[in-house]
Amino acid sequence: MNARERFLAACRCEPLARPPVWLMRQAGRFLPEYRALKARHDFLTLVRTPELATEVTLQPIKRFAFDAAILFSDILVIPEALGQGYHFCEDGGIRMDFPLRQAEQVAALAGAGVVCERLDYVARALRLIRAELDGQTALLGFAGSPWTLAAYMVEGAGPGQAERLREMVDREPTLFSALMEKLTEAVAAYLRMQIENGADAVQIFDSWGALCGDADYQRLSLGWIRRVIAALPGDFPVILFAKGMAAHASALAATGARVISVDWARPLSVVQADAGGRVAVQGNLEPGLLDTTPGRVRAGVRAVLADMEGRAGHIFNLGHGIQPSARIENVEALVQTVRGEA
Ligand code: CP3
Repeated sequence: MNARERFLAACRCEPLARPPVWLMRQAGRFLPEYRALKARHDFLTLVRTPELATEVTLQPIKRFAFDAAILFSDILVIPEALGQGYHFCEDGGIRMDFPLRQAEQVAALAGAGVVCERLDYVARALRLIRAELDGQTALLGFAGSPWTLAAYMVEGAGPGQAERLREMVDREPTLFSALMEKLTEAVAAYLRMQIENGADAVQIFDSWGALCGDADYQRLSLGWIRRVIAALPGDFPVILFAKGMAAHASALAATGARVISVDWARPLSVVQADAGGRVAVQGNLEPGLLDTTPGRVRAGVRAVLADMEGRAGHIFNLGHGIQPSARIENVEALVQTVRGEA
C-alpha cells in the first residue's frame, strides 16, 4: 500500500496498521530549503509561479516522505481573485488592500468564473505536482471557509475579534448574506477546479469559526460550508479544519465532510464518537511540542496514537499549522514515531 492509498483509505475509515501523516503548513519557514527559496523570491511570487509552488510543495515530501503533499498557496488568493488584494506588513501581519464594508464593494466582487480564470496558476501548479508525485503520495488542495475569508475581508486584516464582521451580521444581514453567497460560489468553483486538476482530497480551513460563538456557528459558518461541500462531486473526500470548535463534532460531520480536523483541546477518540463514529478525524498534536525535544515529541505522538488505538479513520497531524520555530529533529521524531520506527 503506498502513501496515497493509505491516506485515502483513512479518509474512508478503513482499518490500517498505522495512520497516514502530514502536517499543516508543512512547507514553510521551519524548513531551511524554504527559507533559501524565500531569500530569492517573495511569498506571493512563490504562490503565483507554478514551477516554484511545485518546488515548495515537494520540499517537505522529499525530506520527510509525508503521506500527503498540500498545494503551496494561501487562503487569501480567493479574496484577491474576487478583487480585494492583500500584502504582508513589515511587522509580519497581513493587510487586505482595503476593508470590504460597503454594498457597492460586495457587488463589485468578481464572479466564480472569473475567480477560476484568475487562479489558473493554481490549476497549473496542481498538474505539475500531480505529475511529480506519480500516484505515490496523496495531493491535497484547500480553501478557506466562507466565514473565515469574510473575516479577513471585512476586517481588512487578521480578524482579531471580528467586530466589524459581527456588526455587519447584526446590522446589515442582507449585505452579509450577499457576501457569503459570493464567497460560497467562489470557494465551491475553486475547489471543483482543484479536483479537476488532480487534488485527491481538499481541506476547508475554518480557522476563525470560533469567532462565530457557539450559538451562531451553524448559521454563520457551518451552513455555508455545507453548501460548498454539496456543490462538490458526491463522496469526494473533504477535510474540515475547525479550530477551537471540536465540541461541535456532530454539527461538523453534518456538513458532509468526511474528515474532521481539530485542535488539541479534546481527544480525537471523543470527537469521533461525538460525530457518530461515521467520520475520520485528523490531528491533533499540539504544534508547540515541536519546539521542545525529540523525547517530548515522541511521548506526545504516542499519546495521540494510544487514544486512537484500535479505531479506524485517523490521519495524524498537528492541531494547527507548524510554527517557524519548529525544530527539524523534532519533526523527524514525530514522523518516525507515527511509523513505528522510534
Ligand atoms: O499547509 C501548507 O503547507 C500549505 C500552504 C498554506 C499556507 N497558508 C502557506 C503560508 C496553507 C494551507 C495556508 C492556509 C492559510 N493562510 C490559513 C488557514 C490555516 C491556518 O493557519 O489556520 C490562513 C488563516 C492563512 C492566512 C495567512 N497566510 C496567515 C495568517 C499567514 C501567516 C502570516 C505570517 O507571517 O506568519 C499567511 C502567510 C503564509 N501562508 C505563510 C505560509 C508558508 C508564511 C509566509 C512566509 O513565508 O513568510
